[in-house]
Amino acid sequence: NVCRHRGHRLVTEEGVRRKVIRCPYHSWTYGLDGSLHSTPHIGGHGQHQCADFDIDEHSLWIVRSATWMGMVFVNLDGSGPEFSTHIAGLEQRWSSFTGVGGLNNVEAVGEDGSLELEFHANWKLAIENYCESYHLPWVHPGLNGYSHIDDHYNIVGGEWGAGQGTYKFTFSERAGIELPIFDQWPKDKSAQAEYVALFPNVLLGLHIDHFYSVIVQPLAHNRTRELLQIYCVGDSVADDKHARARREMLNGWRAVFEEDIRPVEEMQRGRDSTAFDGGAFSPVLDTATHCFHRWVAARYPQVA
Ligand code: FES
Ligand SMILES: [Fe+2]
Repeated sequence: NVCRHRGHRLVTEEGVRRKVIRCPYHSWTYGLDGSLHSTPHIGGHGQHQCADFDIDEHSLWIVRSATWMGMVFVNLDGSGPEFSTHIAGLEQRWSSFTGVGGLNNVEAVGEDGSLELEFHANWKLAIENYCESYHLPWVHPGLNGYSHIDDHYNIVGGEWGAGQGTYKFTFSERAGIELPIFDQWPKDKSAQAEYVALFPNVLLGLHIDHFYSVIVQPLAHNRTRELLQIYCVGDSVADDKHARARREMLNGWRAVFEEDIRPVEEMQRGRDSTAFDGGAFSPVLDTATHCFHRWVAARYPQVA
């Protein structure tokens, strides 16, 4: 989305699809395949070509991308694994709940199905916080009331992600709401739920009757936006009869994600102090968090 001339951003807002992408600055135009079509006056007034300028060498850059669960994943430097490889471990893990391909049976909730949060902390602190259930009793007393810290287990996926799961997620039952469920979900796992950070920056939650994704967008080194989207099983969630369920669920997750803002911002503030040396990790309760740290550390250029 960056013009090959002087680097003006090309598309700045949503709109109807047009035949070409025209840069608003000096009107260079690109085809929808990214090829550069015209360079008005590049060779002087009325001269739209220039001997020393090869138009074919100035197409928009090709970026590797893949789509999954309504999200577009991009790999700017091209060095990442194939997305199908990256997601394989998680898909295999979750097929034991949803059946193979079961996640294809969900639909994004339109009304009352999404929310947006912004806070003052580095995006990696939001990922770190999501990976562990250690903070549950002190940060989420409501959730901890029925899905206790002891009911949780760690998920250390390695390259694709990390997180935690619970055996006692009974939100729908407690709220008195009933939504369609994954038909292959094992009966003995009905209250099990898993929360996984798909590295680097997507948070996922899987339950018997809904799924959500959170895109964690870095806005600045100390500012982050989270975009949460809830998905339900089947295609009846838009029905009026599910209106209360949609609201309860969104409000429930809003409360939990808002509770996480303060600790994440305080970790950021703590890092403003030169006294913070990287801290320590519980060898039992911080293993998923540490998995994320190792993943990030492996991607920093080696210090010479
Ligand atoms: S920066 Fe795009 S045309 Fe000049
Ligand atoms: Fe939390």
